[in-house]
Amino acid sequence: MITHVLGARPNFVKAAPVIAALSASRQAAGGPRRGQRVIHTGQHYDERMSDVFFRELGLPEPDANLGVGSGSHAAQTAAIMIALEKEFIERSPELVMVYGDVNSTIAAALVAAKLHIPVAHVEAGLRSFDMTMPEEVNRRLVDQLSNLLFVTSPEAVGHLAAEGVGVDRVHFVGNPMIDTLLSHLDAFDTEAVRAAHGLPERYIVATLHRPANVDDPQIAAGLVKRLHEIADLADVVMPVHPRGRKVLTEAGLDDHPRVKLLEPLGYVDFVATVRGAAVVVTDSGGVQEETTILGVPCLTVRPNTERPITITHGTNRLVTAEGLVPAVERALAADAGEREVPPLWDGKAGPRIARVVEDWLDG
Ligand code: UD1
Ligand code: UDP
Repeated sequence: MITHVLGARPNFVKAAPVIAALSASRQAAGGPRRGQRVIHTGQHYDERMSDVFFRELGLPEPDANLGVGSGSHAAQTAAIMIALEKEFIERSPELVMVYGDVNSTIAAALVAAKLHIPVAHVEAGLRSFDMTMPEEVNRRLVDQLSNLLFVTSPEAVGHLAAEGVGVDRVHFVGNPMIDTLLSHLDAFDTEAVRAAHGLPERYIVATLHRPANVDDPQIAAGLVKRLHEIADLADVVMPVHPRGRKVLTEAGLDDHPRVKLLEPLGYVDFVATVRGAAVVVTDSGGVQEETTILGVPCLTVRPNTERPITITHGTNRLVTAEGLVPAVERALAADAGEREVPPLWDGKAGPRIARVVEDWLDG
């Protein structure tokens, strides 16, 4: 039995092709080789942060939802660990699969490792080298605890080697988030979302949810000022992550006639909106990768990125709050420029991961 632990929005997008490929490889073998169990920690729980992804991405209904909800880092991580320890002891999985860099990821890896259950980490080796980001702490620790490390980007292999992770554990397989994107290309109906949200031909999509951008009211207010300035250039549509909702709204985010605030969008509507955008302004990890493949200029409001391949190969640029307006002006004036698809971002990461997992477990 393979147990997948999922908790937050980006986990769902990354896990869907892996779970599907593991089911398919089992069927191809002519019968059930090993079962899969999907545990939802409940870290994200709003319909629009969770259920919509299960429906749209064909994820199986979770076998259990731990219902931990929100809390401080310690409270949330500890609640997930306590509930998962019981689950793993009862079910004795052969392998625990974890995704990305969220608190559910580190909680699951830590519990599994202490119970001597092997861990597979999908999206291993990414590094921002910024330990003020909770995700960087989670990534580094999960990689130390993992037996199988699935890497989306070549430089991640070097990061893992530098941290003493044995090369035999590391597998460069491509990017399952891009599997999900490519397999839904026909579903992204930009005209329909533009009509539904009353968007003009040329618009900007903005998403912000990093603690460094939205937790401090003063920093958030500075970003709101810049978002108003870019709204003078083109309409801004912003599906607001629940983390920043209160602070950004109190800073007057919707006090501009060309800023349109939305609830978080489901995957299909969100990517359709991004696909039609003239520019995307974001601090999301996944959106940097998706815009690279869609060829949409991406301005990432962060001092660093753990995904440098989106800059070297894709359409991504890092910007400061102060640099945002000129960067948007430039992006609106030019086309997205040359871009190259990063190696193995070809829609086949899920099957590659499934093959390595099955072979490793068959031992
Ligand atoms: C988490 C991840 C982050 C990831 C993001 C994806 C960690 C440390 N952070 O951040 O890496 O980029 O998910 O979206 O794991 N809330 C709701 N409804 C929900 C979920 C959250 O209202 O369904 C609100 C709560 O007020 C909560 C806050 O959002 O306190 C933050 O949620 P949390 O899961 O702790 O972290 P995210 O900011 O979502
Ligand atoms: N996303 C979505 N609806 C939204 C915003 C984002 O479906 O309103 C998708 C996005 O396309 C990507 C994933 O959620 O697949 C990224 O999640 P998020 O930005 O929350 O997390 P991060 O990637 O920063 O960890």
